Amino acid sequence: MIYITRRETFNAAHRLFKPEWDDDRNLEVFGKCSNPQWHGHNYVLYVTVKGEVNPDTGFLVNLKDLSLVIQKYILEKVDHKNINIEVDFMAGKYASSENLAIAIWEQLEEPVRQIGAALHCVKLLETEKNSVEYYGKNN
Ligand code: NI
Repeated sequence: MIYITRRETFNAAHRLFKPEWDDDRNLEVFGKCSNPQWHGHNYVLYVTVKGEVNPDTGFLVNLKDLSLVIQKYILEKVDHKNINIEVDFMAGKYASSENLAIAIWEQLEEPVRQIGAALHCVKLLETEKNSVEYYGKNN
């Protein structure tokens, strides 16, 4: 088994808040991410896939194919968008890094399989200091 990772970046806006709470309570729990007038992050996304090396190519997967999958299923939907209101796969979810990483996994799992690999990890950095990793439902 070998693992390979593609790094991508995107910019998106969000707000973390519970609508039933006032701004002070939201600020207390969600900090600056509760700003009522939104704010953006420069997200960094690492998608790691696993499998065996194809003896015909020496590749686990063609990274161009992986890049195209991430572009189509993730970046076109989130880049320069408002995660709370414009991203179909985040509808009805809190726009946290945790939920975003899980949703990105769910978006990518099948397309990655179709290019001949298995999804291993979705790692998402919201800032240089904070990141989340998701390894699928049973991990
Ligand atoms: Ni934020």
